[in-house]
Amino acid sequence: MVTYPSSAQIVSEPLGVVLVISTWNYPFSTLSLGPVIGAIAAGNAVVLKPSEVSPATSSLLSKLLGEYMDTSAVRVVEGSVLETTALLEQKWDKIFYTGNGKVGRVILAAAAKHLTPVVLELGGKSPVVVDSNINLKVAARRMISGKWGGNSGQTCVSPDYVITTKEYASKLVDALSCEIENFYGKDPLQSNDLSSIVNSRHFDRLINLLDDETVSGKIVLGGQRDKVKLKIAPTVVLDAPKDSPIMNEEIFGPLLPIITVNKIEDSIRLISSKEKPLAAYLFSNDKKLKEEFITSVSAGGMVINDTNLHLVEPNLPFGGVGESGTGSYHGRFSFDAFSHKKAVLQRGFTGDIAARYPPYANWKIDFLKSLFSGNLIGVLRALFGW
Ligand SMILES: *[C@@H]1O[C@H](CO)[C@@H](O)[C@H](O)[C@H]1NC(C)=O
Repeated sequence: MVTYPSSAQIVSEPLGVVLVISTWNYPFSTLSLGPVIGAIAAGNAVVLKPSEVSPATSSLLSKLLGEYMDTSAVRVVEGSVLETTALLEQKWDKIFYTGNGKVGRVILAAAAKHLTPVVLELGGKSPVVVDSNINLKVAARRMISGKWGGNSGQTCVSPDYVITTKEYASKLVDALSCEIENFYGKDPLQSNDLSSIVNSRHFDRLINLLDDETVSGKIVLGGQRDKVKLKIAPTVVLDAPKDSPIMNEEIFGPLLPIITVNKIEDSIRLISSKEKPLAAYLFSNDKKLKEEFITSVSAGGMVINDTNLHLVEPNLPFGGVGESGTGSYHGRFSFDAFSHKKAVLQRGFTGDIAARYPPYANWKIDFLKSLFSGNLIGVLRALFGW
């Protein structure tokens, strides 16, 4: 009523010059070029800072982008903490960071100095709830694919831990054991299909989680390691204590703790008592449990009856919530992440109502009151002094 007659429009405008800080676990297309494409699509200029943890890929990106892209619009800066710190001192129009919450806080603090908006793609402990009465063989294969396939657990949406009932746990371990052997053979350390850990720092971090005195006795599957090849066999830990390190930091590797509960419904409370994860997965044929899981579990994204796949569906936004991040991208959401939605209202000169302007005579007040309460008679009365 107030704007009539007019037309409203949303105009997407580029933010300006944006900084993309990517990471090492999918260092090429997914986590580096993905956000860069979104930024260019929305009309921005981009500086990409690839990860120093995967230096060969970073220098290849730098070389290829320098060769094939318009360097007045896309630049790559290689380097580590020093270079990133120098980049963060600049004033950007948006910073897009993929990584962990500790560095995420540094990014956010630097961005605050210039009121720069951020997208933070972080991680977290993504749970998998496994109900009974499911197709356990298929569920096990899908869990293994999400956890150990590709990057040996070095994936932000990888299942971090599993919750199942006390009575179902041994069946689940058996199924995992059987399918892991089908995929990786009797000695997984010899398998060419099992990725190694990115470097010895992360290898040692994972071994420390596993060799913790409260955890090492609870290994029910795997545990073998090869320090030279930086490989760790798919490893399952049953009922690690709540306060053990493996249950309190993001694992980001091939170790899978299974936690047991009395009733499967208890899993929802357990997940909600922790920080919001990047992903949450449920294997169940119980409709009620599924509805409750979708409505009450807060997570960046979810998959029912599978793992990781929401990530590759281009019609879904990908991003975290709370401790797992802020903002999202993929598909058109990448375009949205790098543009400002400018609100544009256009009007002609007709329909200029006197009641809008002083002096605020009584008839104007009556008119407006009638107008907003939808009282047509009152409107006419006010206008024509009936
Ligand atoms: C999950 O799988 C179970 C068992 O096959 C099935 O009953 C259930 O409908 C599936 N859930 C969805 C959302 O398709």
